[in-house]
Amino acid sequence: MDNKKFYITTPIYYPSDKLHIGHTYSTVAADAMARYKRARGFETFFLTGTDEHGQKIEDKAKDAGVTPKEYVDNIVAGIKDLWKLMNISNDKFIRTTDEYHEKAVQKIFQKMYDKGDIYKGSYEGLYCKPCESFWTETQAVDGKCPDCGRPVIKASEEAYFFKLSNYADRLLKYYEDHPGFIEPVSRQNEMVNNFIKPGLQDLCISRSSFKWGIQVPVNPEHVIYVWLDALTNYITALGYGSDDEALYEKFWPADVHLIGKDIIRFHTIYWPAFLMSLELPLPEKVYGHGWVLLEGGKMSKSKGNVVDPVILAERYGVDALRYYLLREIAFGSDGVFSNENLINRINSDLANDLGNLVSRTVSMVEKYFGGSIPEEREAGEFDADLKALAAETKEKAEANLDSLNFSVALTEIWKFISRTNKYIDETAPWALAKDEANKARLAEVMYNLCESIRIISVFVAPFMPDTAVEIRKQLGLEECNDWDECGIFGKQVSYTVNKGAIIFPRIDLEKELAELEEAQKPAEPANPLKEEIEGVAKIGIDDFAKVDLRVARIVDCVPVKKAKKLLQLTLDDGTGTPRTVASGIAKYYQPDELIGKSIILVSNLKPAVLCGVESCGMILAADAPEDDVKVIFVDGVPAGSKVR
Ligand code: ME8
Ligand code: MG
Repeated sequence: MDNKKFYITTPIYYPSDKLHIGHTYSTVAADAMARYKRARGFETFFLTGTDEHGQKIEDKAKDAGVTPKEYVDNIVAGIKDLWKLMNISNDKFIRTTDEYHEKAVQKIFQKMYDKGDIYKGSYEGLYCKPCESFWTETQAVDGKCPDCGRPVIKASEEAYFFKLSNYADRLLKYYEDHPGFIEPVSRQNEMVNNFIKPGLQDLCISRSSFKWGIQVPVNPEHVIYVWLDALTNYITALGYGSDDEALYEKFWPADVHLIGKDIIRFHTIYWPAFLMSLELPLPEKVYGHGWVLLEGGKMSKSKGNVVDPVILAERYGVDALRYYLLREIAFGSDGVFSNENLINRINSDLANDLGNLVSRTVSMVEKYFGGSIPEEREAGEFDADLKALAAETKEKAEANLDSLNFSVALTEIWKFISRTNKYIDETAPWALAKDEANKARLAEVMYNLCESIRIISVFVAPFMPDTAVEIRKQLGLEECNDWDECGIFGKQVSYTVNKGAIIFPRIDLEKELAELEEAQKPAEPANPLKEEIEGVAKIGIDDFAKVDLRVARIVDCVPVKKAKKLLQLTLDDGTGTPRTVASGIAKYYQPDELIGKSIILVSNLKPAVLCGVESCGMILAADAPEDDVKVIFVDGVPAGSKVR
């Protein structure tokens, strides 16, 4: 077969926070897939990158006192280092701040605009700032963002819109004609029933309330709003809209966009509609994988429960981590990450099953044959069964990898590893070695073990590239990137082994868990109060002197009819004339509790009418934990006393 091409993408990541193990998941999966396809002879293009525009980045840069570009440059460098550490074999890294991308996105906007798919309107909706998403009343859940659960705010501004509503029928038809476009298939039902069937609204694709974005070509007051900028990376990275579209011609449409389930809507509704508008072919598949959860729920920076892939990779090696992520969690479903599971997997699957197989075999070849297996060999019982399973495993691994069932593919591969270990028990080389007459049989057993391990090295290479190389080195073989080497025994004529280090040393679970917990503790527990307090603008003593604080006694207190939150207080402030103050403390105090108490009053506050009550001043109270409020009492001090 010639002309085999494969184009796979990961999401482009927001360079806002440090990436955690959940982010690593998409990229590791895409990398395994890309390596597998390359080994199968596909000309492969593997794309990843960063999604760098938007208000959130603009705000963060401002807080950090740097320009948005300086801000993202710094974080993107860290993301690139992480991918290097994780052995990610991407062919390109796109940044949405790259000039070629910005120019191409402007061309794309213009093309859609000229076609009549973009118009100017005004946007009113519920906006989730962290997610940079607008939601309708029906989509928002109890005033919260349906994606992240944080509160949304009402927002309205002039904006350009993409006529998404025109594409509903074509999208439905496309899904129908292309089973497998959205996977897992349950996600397709979700898109159809929750978003398309209730009616697609036109999509806001520009903003004028911030500057950090690609300028709208027809109006310099506007920048292109994130999803049009972000999704188009998949074609601009290939040169679409540039002077050289050769890669685009070669690789588009993508074979698979690998993404997390939270962004399926954007990839299966917006993105296909954009492509339809541009009259370009649609990707073959959008695959939405599940969440890597922690025992307490989803990882999130704000919860402070993120797992740092760098710490894990440093302790256990990158390959152990890659293996664990793809083996432990069924792709498409959510899975829980735990240090204990990780260590157990390393001990059982990697140290015990795979590591022992390699070290036992190499040791035996050295012990019985001085490292080189003799050419005179004799077939025997159990050989055929082992060989048959190799061929079968190749087929099963292929079928599962082709459908992105990484964990099942690994399970099949591990069955073959176990079978090979069992072959050692069945053939009992130590018994054969006792009699010189069995030398040829022993040679064949050793040869078959080496062949099995050679085959295993090809099977595991997409998942654990360095381990595959190390195993082959111990077998005296060069690196191999040809998947077809993994089905059949007999490819290698003979073996001269070189014993190396143990590939996966066993880990003492108890000891390691304690150490790991220590290592994963944030260096200095973040103290948001410290930041908040230190961030407040300083005032001079003169500013403070402007505030007249006095002790006053509460002589009467009644609820305010029209306002549930307010209590109306009558105060003796020492002047002899009663003073009225409305205070928002009805939730925290009964009127009876307050009458007779002395409090601190801001006496020179300009009067204001609150729900029909003219309030002259304000009383001091402290915010207490769990949404409580405590009024500051100064009982025993005469009314009118100055507070300084
Ligand atoms: O969404 N488990 O970027 P992002 C599994 N810029 N996957 C997780 C995860 C977890 N705990 N946490 C995050 C964006 N992810 C956009 C994409 S694409 C044109 C634009 C996944 O940095 C998440 O689902 O917030 C998403 O697929 C990816 O990490 C990037 O998230
Ligand atoms: Mg996100």
